[in-house]
Amino acid sequence: MTDIAFPCRRDGLRNVSCQDVPRGFATSVNVRRYPPSVERMDIADWAEATARMILEAPLPRRWAHTQGVAAQARSLGPILGSDAGLLTAAALLHDIGYAPGLTNTGFHPLDGARYLRDTEYGSDMLCRLVAHHSGALIEAAERGMARELSAEFRPPRRDLADALVYCDMTTGPDGQHMPVEQRLAEIRARYGPGDLVSRAIARSAPDLTSAVMRVSCRLTHSTPMPRAALPVRARVLIGAT
Ligand SMILES: [Fe+2]
Repeated sequence: MTDIAFPCRRDGLRNVSCQDVPRGFATSVNVRRYPPSVERMDIADWAEATARMILEAPLPRRWAHTQGVAAQARSLGPILGSDAGLLTAAALLHDIGYAPGLTNTGFHPLDGARYLRDTEYGSDMLCRLVAHHSGALIEAAERGMARELSAEFRPPRRDLADALVYCDMTTGPDGQHMPVEQRLAEIRARYGPGDLVSRAIARSAPDLTSAVMRVSCRLTHSTPMPRAALPVRARVLIGAT
């Protein structure tokens, strides 16, 4: 593939040449690099096609969860503005590191982010969102991989990180919507009390809950008040009486 075929990869895709990125990370997943139509595709459409190819067949339950997380991301449009596509793409791709063909270290945020960076040429912020999603740094510390994660991927913007936490931590393993407290309990129950993931989620629970609350608050304040609920004086001013 040449630079000429893809001269300007936009949105969540880096504008890079094929020569400036190490290609050391091999994967057996049969995902075509540089889909020919990518220039005409919305980043969320590209991410959905990519995530579907990676997750749907080998990990259908994870794919169901992913679709639920993406639905939550789409619901955040009112507070995300021009970042809505990027956040939806991150939601679609945040768990691809679980796919058998992508597993390298066994730590899915790092494996997924490396795949996006090295194979899909994902944008810097997209890779950082996937690498650090939902308390990944704390789990990395439990695994002795915090230095490795931080050295390769800087933390993403906090508002976007919060938004991805909100989407992931209010979506159950089958894609169903659930409160953050229920989601945290579900993770601990699924992995069991002695598991590393349970320890990590217990440590990160306060941060995750706070992030969900911040996003919920932003959503509440972004929702226009129904005209009927406005004070009479305000309804007169906007001609709503
Ligand atoms: Fe997830």
